[in-house]
Amino acid sequence: MRHESQLPGDRGWLPTTFRVPTSSFLCEVSTLKEILLHPQASPKFYSPKEVFFCPEESQFYARCLESLVLKNCLSSERVVEFGCGDGSPVITALLRTPFDSIINGYELNPSSCQVAKARVEQYGLSGKYVIHNSSFFEASNSEAAYLIANPPYLPAPDNDILMPLLHGGADGAALTKRLLGLGYENALLMISSYSNPVDTIHYAIAQGYGVADFMVVPLKFGYYSSEPKVENSILELRKHRKAFYSDKVYFLAGVLFKQQQEALLDLSSELIQVMTAL
Ligand SMILES: C[S@@+](CC[C@H](N)C(=O)[O-])C[C@H]1O[C@@H](n2cnc3c(N)ncnc32)[C@H](O)[C@@H]1O
Repeated sequence: MRHESQLPGDRGWLPTTFRVPTSSFLCEVSTLKEILLHPQASPKFYSPKEVFFCPEESQFYARCLESLVLKNCLSSERVVEFGCGDGSPVITALLRTPFDSIINGYELNPSSCQVAKARVEQYGLSGKYVIHNSSFFEASNSEAAYLIANPPYLPAPDNDILMPLLHGGADGAALTKRLLGLGYENALLMISSYSNPVDTIHYAIAQGYGVADFMVVPLKFGYYSSEPKVENSILELRKHRKAFYSDKVYFLAGVLFKQQQEALLDLSSELIQVMTAL
């Protein structure tokens, strides 16, 4: 059982491999070049129990942000983020796009917030990415045109798991649905094929959304999803056709939901086909 990855350390982003002997799956990190920011960006060493760390997932979220949101955003359109983590996805996407507005990011975990704020400052992005150490749900951001999030989606009966802030309710979709219920005009959300995806997409449609675009990547089960309590929940969901995966991978989709207008090309059927393919 192992998880191989790289961590930000007190000597910076260490190119050393570490192994956490708690997972029966291997979370492979093929390339970290795009997500590893400057060595001095991390003020302190944090373990993956303290700060969310899954580079493949965060890197894919960054790509979705770049292609589905930031490239198309007008300078008048504000963006609000639920759960910045260590800040690397938004920073990476900002460094690749001429985005000219402001992203307000909310992160409950103080350690993640500390890392994210240090990085934002280091990259000179304080004018574009403002991070708040508070719950997203306590803030009022109704004027934002886009909601963006890689939300917690781990299914488990309760939040007594390795990282409680990654708990997505019994089926993993509770936080995602809560975000979809807030009425933002556009929402870019990461959706996992093992967290009741069909129900989530139907819920979005019931809230007036269509699927304007999406991107999908296969991911191996990793450190957080291989915790026995989470793994058992995923197995149980699969029996009820609420989780879809092979013995090797699951799918993670970056989905751009848009409030339905007459001319919207709605790709929800196509998204459901992809998410249930395994
Ligand atoms: C799956 S992680 C994603 C982190 C980062 N966006 C990424 O993709 O690398 C979800 C993040 O949401 C944060 N979070 C959970 N509940 C929150 C809340 N109510 N308000 C703000 N952040 C929250 C967690 O602490 C965690 O850092």
